[in-house]
Amino acid sequence: MTLIPNLPHSPAWQALATHAASLRQRHLRQLFAEDAQRFARFSRQHDGLLLDFSKQRIDADTHRLLLNLAAAANIDGWRQKMLAGEAINHTEGRAVRHVALRAGSAAPAEVRIVLERLQACCESIHSGAWRGYTGERITDVVNIGIGGSDLGPRMATRALAAQQQPDLRVHFVANVDGADIAPLLAGLNPRTTLFIIASKTFTTQETLINAATARAWLLATADNETAIARHFVAISTARERTRAFGIADANVFEFWDWVGGRFSLWSAIGLSLALAVGWHQFEQLLAGARAMDEHFASAPAADNLPLTLALLTLWNTDFLDAHTTAVLPYSQSLERLPAYLQQLEMESNGKQTDRAGQRLAVTTNPIVWGEAGTNGQHSFYQLLHQGGQLIPCDFIALRDSDFPLPNHHRSLLANCLAQSAALAFGQTAEEVRAAGVAETLLPYKLFPGNQPSTTLLLPTLNAYTLGQLLVLYEHKVFCLGVLWNINSFDQWGVELGKTLAGRLEPLIATEGDDSAFDSSTRGLLAALNRR
Ligand code: F6P
Repeated sequence: MTLIPNLPHSPAWQALATHAASLRQRHLRQLFAEDAQRFARFSRQHDGLLLDFSKQRIDADTHRLLLNLAAAANIDGWRQKMLAGEAINHTEGRAVRHVALRAGSAAPAEVRIVLERLQACCESIHSGAWRGYTGERITDVVNIGIGGSDLGPRMATRALAAQQQPDLRVHFVANVDGADIAPLLAGLNPRTTLFIIASKTFTTQETLINAATARAWLLATADNETAIARHFVAISTARERTRAFGIADANVFEFWDWVGGRFSLWSAIGLSLALAVGWHQFEQLLAGARAMDEHFASAPAADNLPLTLALLTLWNTDFLDAHTTAVLPYSQSLERLPAYLQQLEMESNGKQTDRAGQRLAVTTNPIVWGEAGTNGQHSFYQLLHQGGQLIPCDFIALRDSDFPLPNHHRSLLANCLAQSAALAFGQTAEEVRAAGVAETLLPYKLFPGNQPSTTLLLPTLNAYTLGQLLVLYEHKVFCLGVLWNINSFDQWGVELGKTLAGRLEPLIATEGDDSAFDSSTRGLLAALNRR
């Protein structure tokens, strides 16, 4: 398989670097003034979605050169390798097959079997056939998991609040901090609560500690281990460990090592979401995801939405020197999207070692952050407008609201369009003067503009469009991994902290040999242990 050897020295990269030197001097005002067709040239529509990237700092040459880079990186070949189930996660010797989870009738038999079991589980809880140990209906479900076993279903459950099933509340616990689970349990009834222990590995410390607390809380009332079968299900690839925890095989929904945690919403990890919104909605999510898979697999490079997003991020990061990127959903229902994308993008591509084990000479993933509009406007947008840093933004808006109320949505949309325009075009001294502003205040009222953004318009927010949206970003991440020549599917960078925490835990609240640690850590231990 072709890799880009020594990426920054490849002709395609060099051509972009030369081009960037002149493009960097140009303002979005000029780029728009020079090209009356700019919106048409740099926007794409697909399956109800509209992607407007005309406010990115590119011209037709930039676009052409970026597409050349994609061809040189052999995006097509890598996509085929992924879809063929090759072990492209080479550092873990694993295939990357999460696309198979949403392949519908083309999904592997093992996937369809688990989907059928999940559907049956959902239906029995919704119908009331599933009863707690005293014979009462389940009223509350608690998903205990962290990272990919939490962020996806939590974000999607919030996003699809308009589809929330009646009579069943779904909660999420992730943090090992007792402040997460304790207040939640205080408001729940053990006789009517079902716990989902979601952990791919079933070794994650936070999840196991929270699960043990939930188990003890149930047994404190039930006083009989047989209650566990009515109140605990597990989602995991590790059957021996779920058994050791005491969860019957009949209550374990499996997935596979070829599903990365941050790509697992489409697997049994989606159970909490399916319970929150109903099985039909979960199927709609998979359908939207599948539609975007098909688009990614077949659309020409110039029209391919995930590839377009990836190329723009690469351009902004490596050629315009942007170090962060803001995700700004103008949808309160998407308020958890930035957190979800943080894991998806930064755990996947926050790496500096390439596929050949060499240190990369270029910057990879920018820091992803964000907040729902319009709330962000009243906190950090000041810095976006006048802070002097280049911060590309992704605006996401809904043509029709998922919660239509008179006046609200027009105002929300107006703010979204206003912000991307203000960021792009700014406000010149002449414009400030024309507005009658005193000369002494003029320097404060200048807006430099030239802040690049992309706007994604969804018809509305529902399970189908959410599936499209998430897979758009998933495949963007895949493309960036190929372009940077890194393995997007491992996460070795999370290991060191886990190992050190394991060594430190015995030293917290008890004296022990801390001589292997540095003076700062020893000092903090001493302060913690001094009571
Ligand atoms: O620590 C990072 C991580 O491994 C993520 O990649 C993963 O989503 C999360 O922990 C949870 O892992 P698990 O599902 O195995 O508990």
